[in-house]
Amino acid sequence: MTSALRILVFSILVALCSCQSDEFLYDTFPAGFKWGAATSAYQIEGAWNISGKGESIWDTFVHSDEPHVADGSTGDVACDSYNFFREDVALLKNLGVNFYRFSFSWSRLIPTGDLRDGFSEPGVDYYNGVINELLANNIEPTVTLYHWDLPQGLQDVGGWLNRTVVERFAEYADLAFLLFGDRVKTWYTVNEPWVQAVQGHGWGDYAPGLNQSGILDYQAGHHLLLSHARGWRIYDEKYRNSQGGKIGYTMDSSWLEPKTQTQADIDAAERGMQFKLGWFAHPVYSVDGDYPPIMKEYVARHSAEEGFPQSRLSEFTPEEVAYVRGTFDYFGLNHYTTNLAEYAVYPFAPSYATDAEVFPSFNETWPESSADWLRVVPWGFRKLLNWVKNEYGDIPIFITENGYADFPGTIDDVGRVDYYRSYINEMLKAIKLDGCNVIGYTAWSVIDNFEWAAGYTQRFGLHYVDFSDPARPRTPKSSAALYKQIIADNGFPAPPKNEDKNDL
Ligand code: GAL
Repeated sequence: MTSALRILVFSILVALCSCQSDEFLYDTFPAGFKWGAATSAYQIEGAWNISGKGESIWDTFVHSDEPHVADGSTGDVACDSYNFFREDVALLKNLGVNFYRFSFSWSRLIPTGDLRDGFSEPGVDYYNGVINELLANNIEPTVTLYHWDLPQGLQDVGGWLNRTVVERFAEYADLAFLLFGDRVKTWYTVNEPWVQAVQGHGWGDYAPGLNQSGILDYQAGHHLLLSHARGWRIYDEKYRNSQGGKIGYTMDSSWLEPKTQTQADIDAAERGMQFKLGWFAHPVYSVDGDYPPIMKEYVARHSAEEGFPQSRLSEFTPEEVAYVRGTFDYFGLNHYTTNLAEYAVYPFAPSYATDAEVFPSFNETWPESSADWLRVVPWGFRKLLNWVKNEYGDIPIFITENGYADFPGTIDDVGRVDYYRSYINEMLKAIKLDGCNVIGYTAWSVIDNFEWAAGYTQRFGLHYVDFSDPARPRTPKSSAALYKQIIADNGFPAPPKNEDKNDL
């Protein structure tokens, strides 16, 4: 699609969706729609040095003398799901979910990260225990191979900046398919490569804490993309026939709404979408593959202006473009919030933000959460789903995370109840009114957990966890009852009785 046409479609999309955004839709999801909930290894497992587990970059990051985590906490014990995973499965069963999305800790399975050094039997036993417990309770295990906890052994030789990481990931993925693929039928190669690239290598607020924006983030992102593609192709060529599962990866994206209706802001919003979601989606899901043309153009231009001999954005060879393109069985999407996008030229360089020429902000009337980056803007979800459909075609979209942050101690979490009800309803509108092909939904998260650099100051759980008690008791919040009801009803079949009366 030409950029003029793309911007026209984008403007129509913005106009179209906004008129229908407020009315609640009473209807159900298509038969077979899948409901689930998620966690990740470092955020819940604890047992950071138990049974031969190697250290990961998050172990190093939280144990360093530098203050990386808001409350000075770590994931050393976290929810202690290493010991209490059966409790987690019981919570999932009570919710009535079809599947659980959790991640493998690479260094629990392969302590140095390099399979040539061997793998850990206790690590294999642990994940067999989780998988078998889920199956015994009729819950499908779905597994993320990489949720940001790179083995420290690999970081020591350059981590995501060293191309050999692609080979190490390939060997790890192959082992996982071999050992667990008889029972795991849905795989996610990499979780949110954007966050791992930008926050881990550009801003440095996440492990491994490197902060050369506009340089290292692009290099890390390149190897994350190649690793994903390698994992997908190994599954496709070696395991798909015998195991019959699905594999893809999962990208994060906010919706970007133009701050004003000036052409500059409308263009900035579309460009921002290409820099954010397109960076990792275009190489895999577009017809042509490779990075989005506008991203290549802007980074190359800025790089030249800054005197770099070549673009700071890494380049795929034609063979790599073909290798990465089409490596999907679904479009995995994590979504939380919406930003306003404004055209901006920054006075500093180089950086990812400078390259995009977009300044993100919020409308101050949008309801807040306990996370400063997350405001409640349900209609943005529907617009994002339409954007994905319009941009990449009728690919099955799998919502692999969506959720809300509250403060520690909240049990009657009215903010989250409102969030889930309204966001899930916007997803229903995208399916029923706009024809978006959304096949499943995943709530983040089953339980309160270690929220990365925010530690335990922000809680995303459907269940409250008391981190001061060694038994880590889990207590359902109000949102757990709501989610359970939505799953049981497969949506919102009819207005609640009191609303009926109001209508009369
Ligand atoms: C996602 C991430 C999760 C969780 C969530 C809430 O970006 O994949 O691990 O932290 O955000 O912030």
